[in-house]
Amino acid sequence: MAPSEDDPGTGRRAHRRSEPPVRTATARHYLMCRPEHFTVSYEINPWMDANLPTDRDLAVAQWQGLHDLYVSLGHTVELIDPIPDLPDMVFAANGATVLDGVVHSAHFHHEERRGEGPAYLRWFEEHGYTTHVATEVNEGQGDVLLVGGLLLAGTGFRTTLAAHAELQEVLGRAVVSLSLVDPHFYHLDTALTVLDGSEERAEIAYFPAAFSPGSQRVLRRLFPDALTVGADDARALGLNAVSDGLHVVVSPQAVTYQAQLRERGFDPVPVDTSELLKGGGGAKCCTLELCTTSPGAAAAPSTDGPDDNHRNDAAA
Ligand code: ARG
Repeated sequence: MAPSEDDPGTGRRAHRRSEPPVRTATARHYLMCRPEHFTVSYEINPWMDANLPTDRDLAVAQWQGLHDLYVSLGHTVELIDPIPDLPDMVFAANGATVLDGVVHSAHFHHEERRGEGPAYLRWFEEHGYTTHVATEVNEGQGDVLLVGGLLLAGTGFRTTLAAHAELQEVLGRAVVSLSLVDPHFYHLDTALTVLDGSEERAEIAYFPAAFSPGSQRVLRRLFPDALTVGADDARALGLNAVSDGLHVVVSPQAVTYQAQLRERGFDPVPVDTSELLKGGGGAKCCTLELCTTSPGAAAAPSTDGPDDNHRNDAAA
């Protein structure tokens, strides 16, 4: 890509403040997995305590609330069948990385979740996507977020640096590697929300302390106007939120974050996913976005290579 695209410090979004910008929702396409087999029977992140009881029916009810909200906001939700003995399969964000009809499969770090990779891959094969089988350990869109034409990619706990390089080859997008340092924020999407993924209005929120000092500097340079979130909201997994450009589905506990979002013209929609939090996930973890760069502003001519932006058919 041309070197100018992400030139830091150009002030490409320096104009702002006083009035919040007008935000626009764009219709999204999500894949979700009903938590029919949800439980906490193993511990692979600090949120999980296998000694605590879980309530499967409550998990399903909360998940249903999230699902129905997406539908009421005009989004399309597809479903993948849950598989017994894969209790974390509800966390669909980890199922793959998807961009413009091209799928890079997940290859889970922990043995307990490894069966999910092929299950999600099969779903995409059956639904006409172009699929690539990952050779490197990666946990899909839990660690890979599209914003401003870049892929922000987390590493440190799950997805490896080698996977970042593999993703860049497969998807033809520049990958910015970010090091996660706090085990409570073991996936990128627990520490960073993409509020607007489009090229010209790229906007994120994040919890700086979840990142290494160098990665914090990278984020500051790329997103000088980013919303930074306090420890209380971050520790309620508030950043594990889903934005459609206007509505931000967020944990009700992240009270200050919601006020910050309102100040910036977003419309926070609190949804209780507390039962699923016992597995270490929130709304975003339950949601795999079948990303396309065609809807909304993101389709603006970019400085990407010539073989981009021509595969929107399968995922649209
Ligand atoms: N128990 C799951 C794990 O540790 C939770 C995954 C949450 N997903 C996410 N995208 N952050 O893998």
